[in-house]
Amino acid sequence: MRVASRALPVVSVDRSSPQPLYRQLYEGYRNAIAERRLTPGERIPSTRGLAAELQISRIPVLNAFEQLLAEGYFESRIGSGTFVAGSSVERVSRPSRGPGEKTLPRRAPRTVSRRATGLVRVKPGPWLSGFGPFNMGEPPVDRFPRAVWSRLVGRHSRRLDASQLHYPSPMGMESLREAVAEYLRTARGVSCEAEQIMIVSGSQQALDLSARVLADPGSPVWIEDPAYFGARNVLNMAEARLVPVPVDAEGLNVSAGIARCPRPRAIFVTPSHQFPLGVTMSASRRLQLLDHARQAGAWVVEDDYDSEYRYGNMPIAALQGLDRDSRVLYVGTFTKILFPAIRLGYMVLPEDLISPFFEARRAADTCPPLFLQSVVAEFIREGHFARHIRRTRVICRERRTALVEALERELGGVLEVLGDSAGMYLSVALPAGWRDREISNRAGAHGVWAAPLSETYVGPVRRNGLILGYGGTPAAQLGVAVSRLRDVLRDYARDRPRGPSRTAATRRSAAGAGRSRVAARRGGSARRAEPL
Ligand SMILES: Cc1ncc(COP(=O)(O)O)c(C=O)c1O
Repeated sequence: MRVASRALPVVSVDRSSPQPLYRQLYEGYRNAIAERRLTPGERIPSTRGLAAELQISRIPVLNAFEQLLAEGYFESRIGSGTFVAGSSVERVSRPSRGPGEKTLPRRAPRTVSRRATGLVRVKPGPWLSGFGPFNMGEPPVDRFPRAVWSRLVGRHSRRLDASQLHYPSPMGMESLREAVAEYLRTARGVSCEAEQIMIVSGSQQALDLSARVLADPGSPVWIEDPAYFGARNVLNMAEARLVPVPVDAEGLNVSAGIARCPRPRAIFVTPSHQFPLGVTMSASRRLQLLDHARQAGAWVVEDDYDSEYRYGNMPIAALQGLDRDSRVLYVGTFTKILFPAIRLGYMVLPEDLISPFFEARRAADTCPPLFLQSVVAEFIREGHFARHIRRTRVICRERRTALVEALERELGGVLEVLGDSAGMYLSVALPAGWRDREISNRAGAHGVWAAPLSETYVGPVRRNGLILGYGGTPAAQLGVAVSRLRDVLRDYARDRPRGPSRTAATRRSAAGAGRSRVAARRGGSARRAEPL
């Protein structure tokens, strides 16, 4: 390593570093200015002098100086030399990392918007960032037809013509919109034309656009309680007033919603498979909801995120198909059928919302890459999409069966499986008095990503439980994961504070069949606490 000597600021170069010399010099000067080791007006040595001192060629020095002059860190005065520019300090937002430094510099938090602060405060725990058993929202990506996909990607890149290189329409690619409209009419009973379809970057973006286009700050919006945290987050970001409406065995309790807030601006619902309780909204509730939305002049955002997966009976047609007043915005996604990283979804917009959504979309990010859209359109046109849904439906049903059987075997009488036989995850209720967040944290430490149900409540928490994804986990691994979960629950039952908070329900489940079965299989332990 060579270091420029004093009178000059310390700028060093390391010949063994993979970073080019000119870049090291550039960053060295930039950091020296940011850290005020060099101050405005200070003279910089000549390029020849610096090169000689560092024993390097003059070319990297010239390149670095050229860049620093172009960016305004240096200024050259004819006949006098090169100096640190007067306004240079303001240009440096933060010192860049030195070669080999892996972490960003730490800073105390600085002011951001209230909305962003709120989001950070409710940031969920490790269960959303880990990959592994019970990760919710993952379809069977291990069974995705990657060879077919690669062939289509190859074909499209070879065929790419100039028409696909321009700015696209914010509504998305025509051929994909037509394919989606056709699919939704036949498979989901959605009444739509291709003109109403907007291609989005996953259903999360559809929820975000809906919140921003439909709600003003302070607008009352009904949200299911418990609800999908992604919907809660976008409504908070839009500064809507969230009105939590309880969910019962028939789905969103419309009468309770009317009692709390009769004239909401919008209603966010998951009627096919309520997230996270897993119930399907009954036909009478659907009609009541649409009827009330019409009377109140409210929009209904139908998040149909995983409706392709139903195991007990035929798929339930979308709420949108029952709507006679064009009040429902239908939201669907490719991420639960193909793979989450694809970040493609779609919305069906009522005719009078096309224009505001078009402009909002243009203001945001225009639309997802056309290349990807054209590959998906072909994937659908060639029949791979329909075939893949048929296949993954069978796989998910098998995985669900394996999970339910393992839960029954290992934890029967302790955990109660909630909801219908559908989707890619299921929720289980914990015995009363058990804290799901702590259990989820403990499970995360064992590589098991069980999300706490309590985090999904918008109002007071009514139930503690776990959300267990199975779509992305092969059946054999689910059995292992349930065994690990059983161990986590056993340890939790042993460690958890006891006291008057234990309810009759806890005592009932403590006496349940699961205790004797699981305890007997594990050989027992003197310290083991009920119910495990
Ligand atoms: C209820 C619900 N809606 C929307 C989404 C978001 O899906 P996407 O990946 O399409 O953004 C999820 C993801 O898990 C979900 O569970």
